[in-house]
Amino acid sequence: EKGGYDYFMLKEIAEQPQAIADTLLGRLTENGEIALDEVRLSDQDLRDVDKVFIVACGTAYHAGMVAKYAIEHWTRIPCEVELASEFRYRDPVLDRSTLVVAISQSGETMDTLMALRHAKEQKARVLAICNTNGSTIPRESDAVLYTHGGPEVAVASTKAFLTQLVACYLIGLHLAQVRGIKYADEVAAVVAQLQEMPDKLRELLAGIEPVRELARDIKTAPTVLFIGRHVGFPVALEGALKLKELAYMHAEGFAAGELKHGPIALIDQGTPVVCVVPSPAGRGMLHDKIVSNIQEIRARGARTIVIAEEGDTAVTPYADHLIYVPRTPTLLAPLVTTVPLQVLACEIAAARGHDVDQPRNLAKSVTVE
Ligand code: F6R
Repeated sequence: EKGGYDYFMLKEIAEQPQAIADTLLGRLTENGEIALDEVRLSDQDLRDVDKVFIVACGTAYHAGMVAKYAIEHWTRIPCEVELASEFRYRDPVLDRSTLVVAISQSGETMDTLMALRHAKEQKARVLAICNTNGSTIPRESDAVLYTHGGPEVAVASTKAFLTQLVACYLIGLHLAQVRGIKYADEVAAVVAQLQEMPDKLRELLAGIEPVRELARDIKTAPTVLFIGRHVGFPVALEGALKLKELAYMHAEGFAAGELKHGPIALIDQGTPVVCVVPSPAGRGMLHDKIVSNIQEIRARGARTIVIAEEGDTAVTPYADHLIYVPRTPTLLAPLVTTVPLQVLACEIAAARGHDVDQPRNLAKSVTVE
């Protein structure tokens, strides 16, 4: 049932190209519009939206963080991301022109469900991104986009995350389209870029072996840090979360620009720091800034593990380990940059002798608040 893989997690990592292809399948209608699965909202309701809140937990929250960049960029609607467990307790300002997007693989996460219910009580519209048909969160939402990622058995989320990202992009495009900001041809262009992602992921996975070697190298480090900027920041957080939950190692993700405001003091001789570098083509300025961050931490003894776009030679002199990912438009880059971090965590956990699919103290679906 593990299809020849040692762990479900490795199988699910390998399934990601197909999983995201399945998320995309049949989403673009003949008129070039994005089709949701269940819509109990009118286009007018969506045109009236003046604020988006994304609520989710754990890995799904990281997908939401990426979505914020895409949704604000494409729709120009203010978008906030919030941990579902915090949302209702701070009495957020919600009304019928607020769209709350709840992201959940299982559709049963109690924190997310309670956030959704609170939003509905305040008359907000709720849209679910979910992997589990007929689960509670989509049942209670006004609209649903299923990720169609197939069952995820390993406790640590991998393909669910990538399919959540794709679903978030589709929702951003749908909102932009309904509101007349993006037109069929522009949406089709982004969808075409998304459709290239399964092949790019296959290419990436075919060359993943060096990440396994690296895992054996750093498995005894007392701490591993992750840095990123823009959409690379949530990727850094996700990389750290994977390492904590699977390898039981101390790991932390930072926005690279925050380093100098404190965390750089953590860097010691040999501290592994995974650096998620944005494409030099996209937001060039950010690329150069993170390259100087990498220089800086290396000068302080960090062992730099650099995830960069193929052909990015600016990082070469400062990378102790260089992992190239296929060229990808900036907003879509988390679909490729996350994958080496998943493999890294999985392989470190295995090298440390842990149960990769069933980490201690964790359950696949958290149905208590
Ligand atoms: C991490 C992980 C968890 C879940 C979180 C939300 O690998 O799996 O952080 O992402 O518990 O679960 P769902 O998406 O089912 O609401």
